[in-house]
Amino acid sequence: FEVTWDAAQAEKGGHSSFMEKEILEQPHAIADTLLGRTDSDGALILDELNIDPERLKAIDKIIIVACGTAYYSGLTAKYAIEHWTRIQTEVELAHEFRYRDPVIGPNTLVVSMSQSGETMDTLMAVKHAKELGALTIAICNTYGATIPRESDGALYTHAGPEIAVASTKAFTSQIAACYLLGLYLSQLRGGTYADDARSIMTELSEVPAHVQTVLDGMDRVREIARFMADSRSVLFLGRHVQFPIALEGALKLKEIAYIHAEGFAAGELKHGPIALIEPGQPVFIIMPSHDTPHDLHAKVVSNIQEIRARGARTLVITEEGDEAVRPFADEVIEVPKTSMMMMPMLSIIPLQVFACELATAKGLDVDQPRNLAKSVTVE
Ligand code: AGP
Repeated sequence: FEVTWDAAQAEKGGHSSFMEKEILEQPHAIADTLLGRTDSDGALILDELNIDPERLKAIDKIIIVACGTAYYSGLTAKYAIEHWTRIQTEVELAHEFRYRDPVIGPNTLVVSMSQSGETMDTLMAVKHAKELGALTIAICNTYGATIPRESDGALYTHAGPEIAVASTKAFTSQIAACYLLGLYLSQLRGGTYADDARSIMTELSEVPAHVQTVLDGMDRVREIARFMADSRSVLFLGRHVQFPIALEGALKLKEIAYIHAEGFAAGELKHGPIALIEPGQPVFIIMPSHDTPHDLHAKVVSNIQEIRARGARTLVITEEGDEAVRPFADEVIEVPKTSMMMMPMLSIIPLQVFACELATAKGLDVDQPRNLAKSVTVE
């Protein structure tokens, strides 16, 4: 995949910021990442990995290593990969992993996630993994970057150049690419795994259109962002595969609007964070989809009741038609109905738009936030 980007793509294209442009490019970025990776009857083709399928079939443990937003895309993908492949999957901050003494063998696959492919901590983690004998695959958005070159195989996202320091289209494309890898590993295992992979691939191919639907309905989110421009603290709650989305939503607000923001697993509320709730405290709650197991949806609805009873201002992101949350929500932001594992790529969109609009309303430099670089090539 020799990817060439023309200079026009690297211009703002009439948008107020690269970040706004890149948020809006996500349907294409995800679609381009999926393009050409299935054959005519929906089977995955990832020959580009250049790894012996027999080596991949023997994988019995996966460790995803990354930093920042890329780490959150790995945390999101973990739920699906474990569920689809039944291979133990862990996600580690690269800068922690590289100093740990992890249990790694020849059947361990270490997957690095990096938009730039130059993040020093992630590169050092990959080198550490290789020294310990692991197989390494790089999921990267920059063709020929150092990390993919250091890895045994590479699976490129085709999100196009991501100029804004705050990662958006790379995040959703990384999840899609990680899902492709997980489905490919499932397919190699054969049997029901391969059958499931085909039907899930169909769902994945519908995500770009769903993301476009979300993007087309963001006027109210932009209005809320402008109204909340002077917020001092915003909390984000998520559960299961939506927990990493709460973390990523908080990071977006921190890094471009300079507002204290924190993401929590909704189940953690009673173990401390609920003490933070006081009248008027804005809290985003990212609901699980209708098909999430273990009555998780009902549990998160009761989480919303708990914080609303203490005066929180609840902004709920949920599937269209979810009436259960309405009595306890000050705002309901709907996304199209989709399956559990696909919903994170939709529910992150309003949080990206919220952060971008709020920072813009504050007159901040959305594309080049203070103290930050696009790629952290130092340790
Ligand atoms: C993302 O919004 C941040 N700018 C930052 O956390 C970034 O995701 C992280 O530094 C990893 O960068 P990479 O994907 O290029 O490795």
